[in-house]
Amino acid sequence: MSASERPVPLIYVLNGPNLNLLGKREPEIYGYQTLADIEASCVARAGNLGLEIAFHQSNHEGALVDLIQGAREDGAGIIINPAAYTHTSVAILDALLTFSGPIIELHLSNVHRREAFRGHSYVSKAATGVICGLGAQGYLLSLDAMAAQINAAA
Ligand code: DQA
Repeated sequence: MSASERPVPLIYVLNGPNLNLLGKREPEIYGYQTLADIEASCVARAGNLGLEIAFHQSNHEGALVDLIQGAREDGAGIIINPAAYTHTSVAILDALLTFSGPIIELHLSNVHRREAFRGHSYVSKAATGVICGLGAQGYLLSLDAMAAQINAAA
């Protein structure tokens, strides 16, 4: 079913490399919630907002490109934490530039308070908005913002 045919808008929530280790990976930076915890809270929030979500994580750049291309078929919006690919991936930027709906770039940590290389994002060029530094709450805020974007466009 295409995005416009879907009764409930489908939002892709995409997560890049090493985010499968959330909870164990540098928890002082990324928090103690696992990605499964975050997915469960996103499913609940999306339900309250009248959205459906397709939640994915991959450690592979091409797999993320494939998911973004998939969102062109049936997705109303994309929320993406590209993780390290934020700072390196023209391929993910180019894929996002082909998507016509709202795109929210998301980071758990405040990338601007960290190493200088994290201050540059290729992805921001395609993003409608960027949320960073608010930990797992950023996922829920992104969904709130996505609902507002979609309602404003309707
Ligand atoms: C991150 C920040 C990136 O710099 C880092 O490579 C990540 C996670 C974040 O959510 O804070 O893996 O995107």
